[in-house]
Amino acid sequence: MDKSIYGVILAGGQGTRMGNIDKPKQFLEVGGKPVIIHTVEKFIVNPNFTQIIVLAPKQWLAYTKDIIHRYIPDQNKTVVIEGGSTRNETIMNSIRYIEEQGKLTDDTIIVTHDSVRPFVTYRIIEENIRYAQKCGACDTVIPASDTIVESIGGEFISNIPDRKIMYQGQTPQSFKAKKLRKVYESLTPEEKEILTDACKIYVLKKEPVHLVEGEVSNIKITYPHDLRVAEAILGGGR
Ligand code: CTP
Repeated sequence: MDKSIYGVILAGGQGTRMGNIDKPKQFLEVGGKPVIIHTVEKFIVNPNFTQIIVLAPKQWLAYTKDIIHRYIPDQNKTVVIEGGSTRNETIMNSIRYIEEQGKLTDDTIIVTHDSVRPFVTYRIIEENIRYAQKCGACDTVIPASDTIVESIGGEFISNIPDRKIMYQGQTPQSFKAKKLRKVYESLTPEEKEILTDACKIYVLKKEPVHLVEGEVSNIKITYPHDLRVAEAILGGGR
């Protein structure tokens, strides 16, 4: 097994859609500990990772290091570094870090994951590693449960695609790191602005991205309601 596999926990956002909160949503508590800790724990238990890189906003770096120190016993496995101005720039910071450590090769895999998806499973992470190694890139998805309605302009329906071929994107999204950087750097500033999703970069450049089956429970905490759902999921598991 190639050991050059990094977990990349994206926590560089501010969580504006969560409303007026004193800290970004990844630091809010569910089930008695910060959301981001639940997420990091899912990666720590997987022995395939060389290291787990956690990327946080500059002003929250010390705080992030502090809570990881408090909750995660295996200190050597994690490192906390600064995120970027966009989600993709945060991912690029992780690749730069791996390079600075002299560890970046053509085969280095990054499993990038939203810090605010604390219910990712061992199986999902394993399959991400497998398909990133096999195909170069993969995205975690679930079949769309609602019919997807497209409206260009937001007033009238422009299209209703067949639900059977529609999926909802989750994370992890996993890549051969060097290749991702190369494709990202080939984008114009305008393309970088539009391409908020890392896999979309590959799709635009006609590079293949394999699907990994996600889970309905692999929710993203975005709005206050999601915190209550997260509490309920944890309560159910106890
Ligand atoms: N993220 C990141 N770096 C950024 C922006 C986002 O690492 N510059 C991370 C967030 O911390 C989050 C994940 O990407 O874990 C998913 O993004 P989203 O839910 O949109 O998070 P926020 O940008 O924090 O939320 P909002 O859009 O409500 O501000």
